[in-house]
Parts: sequence; structure tokens; C-alpha cells
Amino acid sequence: MARAEVRVRHPNARAGSYPLAEQMRITLGADHAGFPLKEKIREYLVRKGYAVEDTGPATFTRVDYPDYAEKVAARVAAGEAEFGVLVCGTGLGMAMTANKVPGVRAATCNDTLSAHFARCHNDANVLALGGRLVDPKTAEKILDIWLSTPFEGGRHQRRVKKIVALDEEHHAEKKK
Ligand code: RB5
Repeated sequence: MARAEVRVRHPNARAGSYPLAEQMRITLGADHAGFPLKEKIREYLVRKGYAVEDTGPATFTRVDYPDYAEKVAARVAAGEAEFGVLVCGTGLGMAMTANKVPGVRAATCNDTLSAHFARCHNDANVLALGGRLVDPKTAEKILDIWLSTPFEGGRHQRRVKKIVALDEEHHAEKKK
């Protein structure tokens, strides 16, 4: 399929609307344990025609995952990207950190089924992957599922609203 013809279902699109992949912005980040996989993921997503932003690191250096998780989470929370993809050794620390940013629903998905449900039930907006647990081909499959699975809404909407309410409640508490 030609690059311009890659069509995916946009998570925020109205039913029946299928914008081009390049209209979906994806922001990436990693630590040293996730760096090699993050590089492969960037190449894959660019090849597929997505608008990709890489927050780093740009080289294989020892860095702390919370620093990159926060960068990516902030971009997604601000609406600068539809999705974030974070890679550390396991995907756990990245998700834990990203979920501290209000508006972010990060899920560690090292398999396709988790990716499917994270999108259709939880409306997750940040995917965290384990660079030490997932090979590049599996990561591509996980990304394909993630990017093509819409949120189901319905009863799941009510539950996600409760997550959002907790974000707001606890954030407001801190500001008092
Ligand atoms: C780094 O060694 C490792 O702890 C980190 O990449 C990640 O797996 C943490 O969750």
C-alpha cells in the first residue's frame, strides 16, 4: 500500500471517519534499556506514514525512565500527540510514571491482546513496551493493534470517566 493510502481509525474520530495515518501524531521516548527498540519503532511508524516525534534519547546513553515518560506524557496530555509510545526494560516504570500526569492513561502491553483491550476498554493513550521483553516484530504487531483499535465507549466510557474524575479530584487536592 502506498504511504499516502495508509488509513487507520483515529481514536477521536467520529464513527465512519478514517483519517490518514499521517494525521495521527505519535510521540516516542525511551531509556537506555528501551533505546534499541524505540529506534526500530520510530523507523516502522515513519515507514507506515505516521507523524512521529522522538523525544529521545538520541543515543545509547544511561538515562532515567521517569524523565522521558514525563516528556511524552505531557505532550499527550496537552493534545500535542494522539498517542505516546514509551520503551524501557519492562514497560512498567514508564507506565507508572506516565500515569502520574493527569489525562494520561498509560498501559504496559507486551502482547497484542493487552494492546487490544487497553484501547477498546480503557481508551489508553500511552503504550509502554518492554525493550527487554519484546522483539521488534512483536512490537510491530502490538503497534498495529493499538493503532487500529478504537475505544468502544458505552459502559467503558462510564469507567474511563471515573479514572478522569480521580485525576481531577487528586490534582485539585494538591492545588489547595
Ligand atoms: C533500567 O535498568 C530498568 O530498570 C528500566 O528500563 C525499566 O525496566 C523500569 O521499569
